[in-house]
Amino acid sequence: MTKRKIIIDCDPGQDDAVMLLLALACPDELDILGITTVAGNVPLDLTQRNARIMCELSGNTDVPVFAGCDRPMNRELVTAENVHGKTGIDGVDIYQPDMPLQGQHAVDFIIETLLAAEDDSITLVPTGPLTNIGQAISGQPEILPKIKEIVMMGGAMREGGNTSPSAEFNILVDPEAAHIVLRCGRPVTIAPLDMTHQAMVTRERLEQIRQIDSPIGTAVVGMMEFFNRFDSEKYGSDGAPLHDPCTIAYLLKPELFEGKMCNVEVETDSPLTGGHTAVDFWGVTGRPKNTNWLYRVDANGFFKLLIERLKG
Ligand code: RIB
Ligand code: CA
Repeated sequence: MTKRKIIIDCDPGQDDAVMLLLALACPDELDILGITTVAGNVPLDLTQRNARIMCELSGNTDVPVFAGCDRPMNRELVTAENVHGKTGIDGVDIYQPDMPLQGQHAVDFIIETLLAAEDDSITLVPTGPLTNIGQAISGQPEILPKIKEIVMMGGAMREGGNTSPSAEFNILVDPEAAHIVLRCGRPVTIAPLDMTHQAMVTRERLEQIRQIDSPIGTAVVGMMEFFNRFDSEKYGSDGAPLHDPCTIAYLLKPELFEGKMCNVEVETDSPLTGGHTAVDFWGVTGRPKNTNWLYRVDANGFFKLLIERLKG
């Protein structure tokens, strides 16, 4: 399998952190050109720190980490400390990493890297608000032909929303950026709540992860024990959905997922439904099918893959 060149854009957040640990454990399949960070679950100074902690924890201090936008394109930042804790990755020891943060702005890194690349050669993997990606595309549309695919976590259809009654967090935080991405004309695959809510970190799965018995396994268990409490209380579920790692799992084993080409648009104006993803699953609008909407995952296969790779 030829290595896929990717840029990961994230807002760690415990599930982003597990996504990073999964991606960093797959050097034979993924060539991570850089990790860019954005304000989302917690402010930017924490998301960039948390990404570097994950690189150090997994022994990948050679992967450059960049800080990007500290607020959405056209609105105030909304964060989610109520879900992720004040640090963003409550459940693991927090410290100031030794590995340096890159001096270049994340948006400039994305633009520079894409402009220098071959056409259709780089996959973008955003798992937070789409501000960095939206700014890069609107600022330098010449990067578009270089993008092979955008595989993102966000949106909801039947699941409604997790931050408002009708909007998922990543899209709600920056609907304008999401609109730019969905209209960019490049292949977009979305891992929405409808699918990620099938990938629950149940007590049984948590015990399987605990068997990994390594610093990475211990960190993942600690983060998941913290991350589980909010959704278990809210939904009365056995654990929380492991949203962001689904993007990397899709790159590694797409056969674990089922998707459908649909038109997806974002509400950007309404104060009531801002960030809502209008998914034309049954093709009633005739609008262009701009998204591969993932609606099913083989959850056992997903966790088997995750645990295998985290074991190393
Ligand atoms: O709605 C879930 C998404 O919002 C995940 O990416 C989580 O990390 C938060 O960013
Ligand atoms: Ca995230």
